[in-house]
Amino acid sequence: MLTGRPITEIVTQRYSCRAYEERSIDAEKRRQLQDYLNTLHTGPLGSAARFELVAATEDDRKALRGLGTYGLIRGATGFIVGAVQPGKNNLEDYGYLMEQAILAATDLELGTCWLGGNFTQSSFAKKIRASEQEVVPAVASVGYIPEGQNPDSLLFRRVVGSIHRHPWEMLFFQEEFDRPLTSEAAGTYTQPLEMLRRGPSASNKQPWRVVKSEGRWHFYLQRTSGYGKGTLVFGILRLADLQRVDIGIAMCHFELTTNELGLAGQWEVADPGLAVPDTNTEYIVSWREKT
Ligand SMILES: Cc1cc2nc3c(=O)[nH]c(=O)nc-3n(C[C@H](O)[C@H](O)[C@H](O)COP(=O)(O)O)c2cc1C
Repeated sequence: MLTGRPITEIVTQRYSCRAYEERSIDAEKRRQLQDYLNTLHTGPLGSAARFELVAATEDDRKALRGLGTYGLIRGATGFIVGAVQPGKNNLEDYGYLMEQAILAATDLELGTCWLGGNFTQSSFAKKIRASEQEVVPAVASVGYIPEGQNPDSLLFRRVVGSIHRHPWEMLFFQEEFDRPLTSEAAGTYTQPLEMLRRGPSASNKQPWRVVKSEGRWHFYLQRTSGYGKGTLVFGILRLADLQRVDIGIAMCHFELTTNELGLAGQWEVADPGLAVPDTNTEYIVSWREKT
């Protein structure tokens, strides 16, 4: 990333930080982060996006609740705000790119928290001068982590179970959804999958499912009932489809880890037509190994 630390270390270090030190991010760190954000233009599925680091005002912090986010954010002195153009996979692309920004901030020893909501018409969208077509599906708070903050003892994380992740057998499969993939059988892909598993997701629902078949890793979205598109809550709040953003985050962790391990491959959208376990499960994208 920025400092040359292994991605596995950065992914493992990241957690949702909701209370920050009340001091602005120093100019050098801000510059490093903004320079990195300037490199994030296009997602792996082709959507154009852009990201900016903006200073947080007291009004911004208060406004968050009204925008469909949850959890109280205290003391954040900055936000990473992005905007993405419309397109079939624009939310996955947004998740992928924003997560890179979050990992870069983590690498700079800053705390972050994804905040998903109805940002497109908000003051956050104005800060980034979002155009009529652009969507702002989520933002991230950023700031210094208070000394001694222990992610595993934070009340919010304990209460909502953010510390936990689904076991491998719920997430990863071989050839078909009925055959779980063990970490031993995943071979050189054990670490990319493990880093994917540790990723953040909206309400920690972890909707990603991956099926390995013939040199391809097929990524599916298993929607949580009552959470996504088509539901009443979704319609009323006009929330972005945050579980598609989650898939982009999974793609980011998976790909960055394969890069580090020197495993070549590329993304393609080519539905293998496998039988899915239920109507909530849909195919999104595949990683094709290059040999
Ligand atoms: C797309 C997305 C939206 C999220 N929205 C919020 C939010 O509005 N408020 C909040 O406190 N946390 C939010 N989170 C953080 C998740 O609750 C958190 O990632 C998850 O519980 C796992 O915990 P961890 O990040 O500490 O590992 C969001 C995460 C993602 C990926």
